[in-house]
Amino acid sequence: MLKCYSDAACDTMEHNMDLHKALILGIESSCDDTAASVLEVNPKGSKIKSSIVYNQFNLHKEYGGVVPEIAARAHAELIDVVVEKSLKTAKVAMTDINAIGVTAGPGLIGGVLSGLMFAKGLSVSTNKPLIGVNHLAGHALTPRLTNKVAFPYLVLLVSGGHCQFLIVHNYNEYERLGGTIDDAPGEAFDKAARLLGLQQPGGPAIEEAAKKGDSNRFDLPRPLLNREDCNFSFSGLKTALMRKQAGLMDKQGGLFKKDVSDLSASFQQAMHDVIIEKSIRAIDLYSKFTNENQTFAIAGGVAANEKIRYSLQKVCKTKKIDFLAPPLELCTDNAAIIAYAAAERFLHGAYDDTTISARPRWPLDNKKPAILGSGKKGSKA
Ligand code: KG4
Ligand code: ZN
Repeated sequence: MLKCYSDAACDTMEHNMDLHKALILGIESSCDDTAASVLEVNPKGSKIKSSIVYNQFNLHKEYGGVVPEIAARAHAELIDVVVEKSLKTAKVAMTDINAIGVTAGPGLIGGVLSGLMFAKGLSVSTNKPLIGVNHLAGHALTPRLTNKVAFPYLVLLVSGGHCQFLIVHNYNEYERLGGTIDDAPGEAFDKAARLLGLQQPGGPAIEEAAKKGDSNRFDLPRPLLNREDCNFSFSGLKTALMRKQAGLMDKQGGLFKKDVSDLSASFQQAMHDVIIEKSIRAIDLYSKFTNENQTFAIAGGVAANEKIRYSLQKVCKTKKIDFLAPPLELCTDNAAIIAYAAAERFLHGAYDDTTISARPRWPLDNKKPAILGSGKKGSKA
């Protein structure tokens, strides 16, 4: 039995929550996407009534990475428009909303502040509960938004800003098995693409170029593979690629199309091998916690890579555990996942108030020492 949340008037009464539904407004602004979403949660599941994402890619592309000040200003300028559009698309008014969930970190602090300050103002002016969401929890809980996956499950976040294995024990308890000590994998794909003269975002461009390439032509390292843990390092791989590219430039004065394809294929193969091997280790660790209804889920832009996705699927089949890859629009940054993480807290009555602070770093697992990786999209908390 939980407190009824369908009507502010029954705040003091106890109701069976199963009788009700709630509408959560989600707001996301931690990196380069300004996003808002209206999510309906009810006992049967969740329904995304709207999910609006404004990407800032064009604002940053000439700088080769996200410029925090530009990002923060763009979020501040757009956030009210995006929220309004999400309400309009969902055909609801602010009065219908039961709670506001907003990313309170980790991320680029200016961007997080833009969203959080807006949400605080909205919460005070409309008298709706405020829930400050850990952005990483949004990603980690996505399998429950899409598939009602049971706890505990294993999730691998692989994007331009994140890289970690987490066992999700419940909505509020996460155990990090490993993560990157430097770049995130998407960041490595992006840097590699830039080096090879391919377009951004680099992951899809490398994947495309690799299709015609020979992955055995260049011998690139598989960083940290000889270490028994689930940690990653991608910056040395990028440097190794740079050396191969520079060698060809010295010898030939430039790169032929075949060179770009072969370098892309060799780079993708190295990324793939490390991610697959570390995933096998993470699954083995996870299997010590539970052998019932086991699920391994991936999230983040790099999860779109067909080669990596296919191999992870095969690994899970061999290990006899369920494999889940949420649709891409929910793997990449959006506000529906923030609304869902807020909904899980809302159902447990875990609200915040306006004293909540924006946090540039916010590890989901605070029992383990922080991984100090940091890159173009901010800290890897
Ligand atoms: O989750 P996401 O959309 O955004 C953030 O990181 O915030 O991830 C974007 C990252 C980019 O670095 C992009 O290069 C990478 O995901 N990515 C891929 C692929 N599609 C996107 N990496 C490898 N293969 C892909 N097919
Ligand atoms: Zn993210």
